[in-house]
Amino acid sequence: MIEQMTAVLHTAFRAHYPDAWPDMESARAEVEEFFDPERICRVAVADDGTVLGWVGASSEYNGRAWELHPLAIHPDVQGQGVGRALVADLEVQVRARRGVTIFLGTDDEDNQTSLSNSDLYPNPLDHLSRIQNLNRHPFEFYQKVGFVIVGVIPDANGPGKPDILMAKRVSQE
Ligand SMILES: CC(C)(COP(=O)(O)OP(=O)(O)OC[C@H]1O[C@@H](n2cnc3c(N)ncnc32)[C@H](O)[C@@H]1OP(=O)(O)O)[C@@H](O)C(=O)NCCC(=O)NCCS
Repeated sequence: MIEQMTAVLHTAFRAHYPDAWPDMESARAEVEEFFDPERICRVAVADDGTVLGWVGASSEYNGRAWELHPLAIHPDVQGQGVGRALVADLEVQVRARRGVTIFLGTDDEDNQTSLSNSDLYPNPLDHLSRIQNLNRHPFEFYQKVGFVIVGVIPDANGPGKPDILMAKRVSQE
């Protein structure tokens, strides 16, 4: 399973985030980060044992907010509800640990949104309020599973390559 998780991470991010896990070694190191029992790691597996995708999360803010990272679905099965199912399952896991919020950053390094290649200063919220998805950026996936955009880090990955911040309330407690 660890080898399959490594391969899924590497191949899922290759198209739009080639620098994220450029080789199997770096992807394997990321998987190993989730051997830590303090983290959450959930894997979607087909009946025959094939790994379809996986999600990780780490406790932040004294356990009240958890950062979703990473989420990777094998390219062969994207668009079939696996990502949605993993996020729903993660919400159950976070609630069980008394977490209130799940948050994440989703980078735009490949001109996938209207935020790319423009100067977001001095009014980043103005740009955010008019965001458009130009090429299947995952922020729209996260919106469909209940997240909202809560901010942006301009130039997070170099000039014109922002990180879009999103969050979802998973408990009222
Ligand atoms: C983004 C990703 C996690 C989505 O998972 P998935 O299993 O393909 O998505 P689902 O099939 O559960 O889709 C749920 C909904 O989101 C939509 N959706 C999925 N990916 C989308 C995208 N990139 N852009 C716009 N909408 C998207 C689906 O059409 C579906 O909409 P519907 O409910 O109206 O039918 C997956 O495609 C992936 O691993 N991509 C590569 C790695 C990546 O970008 N990870 C996230 C980085 S922050």
